[in-house]
Amino acid sequence: MDSIRIRGGKPLSGKIRISGAKNAALPILCATLLSDGESLLRNVPALRDIDTTAALLRFLGRDVQAAAPLVRVGAGSDVRPEAPYELVKQMRASVMVLGPLLARFGRAKVSLPGGCQIGTRPVDQHLKGLEALGATIRLSRGYIVAECKRLRGAEVVFDLPTVTGTENLMMAAALAKGRTTLVNCAREPEVEELGRVLNKMGARVSGAGTDVIHIEGADELEPFDHAIISDRIEAGTYMVAAAAAGGDVLLENAPLEDLEAVAAKLRQAGVEVGREGDCVRVRRDAARPLRPVDVTTAPHPGFPTDMQAQFMVLMCLAQGTSRIVETIFENRFMHVPELSRMGAHIDVDGHTALVHGGAPLSGATVMATDLRASASLVIAGLVASEGETEVLRVYHLDRGYEFMERKLAQLGADTVRVEGRNG
Ligand code: EPZ
Repeated sequence: MDSIRIRGGKPLSGKIRISGAKNAALPILCATLLSDGESLLRNVPALRDIDTTAALLRFLGRDVQAAAPLVRVGAGSDVRPEAPYELVKQMRASVMVLGPLLARFGRAKVSLPGGCQIGTRPVDQHLKGLEALGATIRLSRGYIVAECKRLRGAEVVFDLPTVTGTENLMMAAALAKGRTTLVNCAREPEVEELGRVLNKMGARVSGAGTDVIHIEGADELEPFDHAIISDRIEAGTYMVAAAAAGGDVLLENAPLEDLEAVAAKLRQAGVEVGREGDCVRVRRDAARPLRPVDVTTAPHPGFPTDMQAQFMVLMCLAQGTSRIVETIFENRFMHVPELSRMGAHIDVDGHTALVHGGAPLSGATVMATDLRASASLVIAGLVASEGETEVLRVYHLDRGYEFMERKLAQLGADTVRVEGRNG
């Protein structure tokens, strides 16, 4: 297992390019199951989750050539509509093959994802929606077994906005007979992006990106050729890294329009954030104190839960106390004990963390627990002016960040990957 070693205390400067969005690529790769033709995905980041999805599509019988930034998915052999536990346990988002397989082949057997580090994360809304479209669903020995001659359009009202739930139903409805209306949908930019691709394939999707989406199902869908949007969470992570370490960076291809909530909180803390051509510029004079800012995570366009851990590190540097409330996942403070090992003062009470900023962070060996927690530990390492930080188990990081240590080094950070480090 690799680790990343960081010598902190250096401001960041220079320019990096933001990669394609992981959380857009995953559902779009699943959407390739809706057509028999050969689809081409461009601007795909080189990530472990992309490799896992490619392996799943191959297991299902597709011919996949994945060489980031290009992924080509062809018909391959007969599809076996079954997603095994071995693959689904590596990545919960695999549940998004359920809708396309059921819609395309009338049956699907997909392992239940089970819980994860950040929460129980049930898929009841996915199943409720597919049942409303006419599927019969039963759970058997850890698997979702779904059948339906042909899905038919219907109205589905989600109990809460769910990103992959909305995406699973959009894909299912794209081949259903008639019109589907999804209400209380997730409004994330990645949902909107999937809507664009389904329209390219011949479905008629309207309202993606709003809380009500209408889908006119088609009898058949075409393959597509599509370049995916940039990763707003990767961009947000580097914006916070620059704010924490201090410096002046340019983030090429960063989707500022999808990061308004994050940018607003950074400005409130005293960080300069602005657009400069096709870049976002982030500047902070490390000598100038940061102001404490309260944050409550929420579905888009609110403050993204996927930025909570990174922003918490920034608040460890602020002159005063800030309150961070996590409303999406019940167990998303796994980074707190590790940050405390670096000298942070954070009190957690249920969904609320009180961050008492101002205490200097020092280098330590810390353990990554999930994708965004690992990014927060890397940022803490950039800030720690005393001693070296080593972040263990960076396989979590590799799930969602393309070459993070190289990109940071490009900005002048002292970051190296140590391969095959035990622990
Ligand atoms: C997506 O997960 C993202 N993953 C997550 O990013 C992100 O944290 C999350 O949305 C919230 O923004 C992908 O897009 C692949 P949800 P998803 O369904 O779809 C509850 C990262 O770091 N819920 O919107 O699984 C659920 O438990 C990852 O890149 C139900 O109760 O999240 C949670 O509390 C981590 N029943 C809330 O809804 C359901 O059927 C929102 O979850 C579905 C969800």
